[in-house]
Amino acid sequence: MSQPTSVPASLPEPVGAPYFHYEHGELHAEGVPVGDLARQHGSPLYVYSRAALRAAWQRFEDAIDGRNALVCYGMKANSNLAVLREFARLGAGFDIVSGGELARVQAAGGDPGKVVFSGVGKQTWEIEAALRAGVRSFNVESVAELRHLSATATRLGLTAPVSLRVNPDVDAHTHPYISTGLKENKFGIAIEEAEEAYRLAAALPGLEIVGVDCHIGSQLTEISPYLDALDKLINLIDALAADGIRLHHLDIGGGVGIRYRDEQPLSLRDLLDEVFLRLAARGHGGLQLVMEPGRSLVGNAGILVTEVLYLKHAEAKNFAIVDAAMTDLIRPTLYDAWHGVLPVRTPSAGCSAKLYDIVGPVCESGDWLARDRELALRQGDLLAVESAGAYAFVMSSQYNTRPRAAEVLVDGAQAYLIREREQVPQLFAGEILPPDA
Ligand code: LLP
Repeated sequence: MSQPTSVPASLPEPVGAPYFHYEHGELHAEGVPVGDLARQHGSPLYVYSRAALRAAWQRFEDAIDGRNALVCYGMKANSNLAVLREFARLGAGFDIVSGGELARVQAAGGDPGKVVFSGVGKQTWEIEAALRAGVRSFNVESVAELRHLSATATRLGLTAPVSLRVNPDVDAHTHPYISTGLKENKFGIAIEEAEEAYRLAAALPGLEIVGVDCHIGSQLTEISPYLDALDKLINLIDALAADGIRLHHLDIGGGVGIRYRDEQPLSLRDLLDEVFLRLAARGHGGLQLVMEPGRSLVGNAGILVTEVLYLKHAEAKNFAIVDAAMTDLIRPTLYDAWHGVLPVRTPSAGCSAKLYDIVGPVCESGDWLARDRELALRQGDLLAVESAGAYAFVMSSQYNTRPRAAEVLVDGAQAYLIREREQVPQLFAGEILPPDA
């Protein structure tokens, strides 16, 4: 990767630095000018940095520091095969939530023996596929699911490894849409009911109890909610041991937050030191720790490149209408999420900055990517929406019959197309006209 040169005062430091950086006034992904990628592959375009993916993985490795832990990438955050392959090669397991995700893991060469299968609504075909693939654990979210899993495994003559997802009723202090560990959320089995559910699991045929898990929310920036949940889970593990039920692993879920704007991400090292300390202090040092991080492995490893189609100066607002939309990145309108917006090139002299709302072409007032951003723009300029590696492409849709964007993975001075841009005929290729009346 070429070394970044000093950034002119007018250009902010990307949150994805040093993997995204300015060089000679032009935004680069590692060694490749982002403008070249847009010229070659068109826009809107997702661009990921391989070195950033590896560095994010290494942060977990460093924090684990040889202790007994398995990182199962929460692949719903970004499930492109190339991204999965990268993590598989680094030794990752995967946290999946559907049969489709299992198929992706298999297509990318991931190890099903390191897969944990989460989700409140597992369908029969998905359970069957996961049993046949030999996943490491079903993270079971209700007693009804437990019974169905037992019946399905028994019918196939297989044994389902089971971990109950417990809802510890802790407040993760995050956005309500991505908070999952409170009583009122649909996820998991209430902690008060967990012991009885485990006793049922021990009695049902076709099941082998292997662990316990929880996931309390996403984009957490504090350690304390994890520890509150951990303490409750340890109490449960003690109660189970008294019942003769022993576990192999404890899964604390995902949720580690990233910096979008000025958030202070938590220290993974501090979190893991404290988790291992508490486990050891309570006599559970032999348990394997499982984690399911999604966003923190990919979020700042990607940007969304978009072109300014038109500038519109209305009475109350200036709008930059760009070729990316809520269909490409729904987070701003769905969660009121803030994503940085960077110019791909230094604004030309004489182009003055104004406050812009960055909006897409979709026919919805909710179709916006950023609001009130001070930018010096001209028609045809390229912008980079930051922190677009997680929950970005994967949440895109074809609303307004918009083809989904292409994705590129940069590695040093090389760029690889890892997903072709959809073509319009593909979008209705599966539709069937009935005979004319
Ligand atoms: N494990 C389970 C059971 C999960 O439900 C999730 C995310 C993860 C792991 C990974 O969490 P992470 O480390 O990425 O926070 N679309 C939302 C985020 C939804 C998260 C859903 N569950 C967003 O764009 O912010």
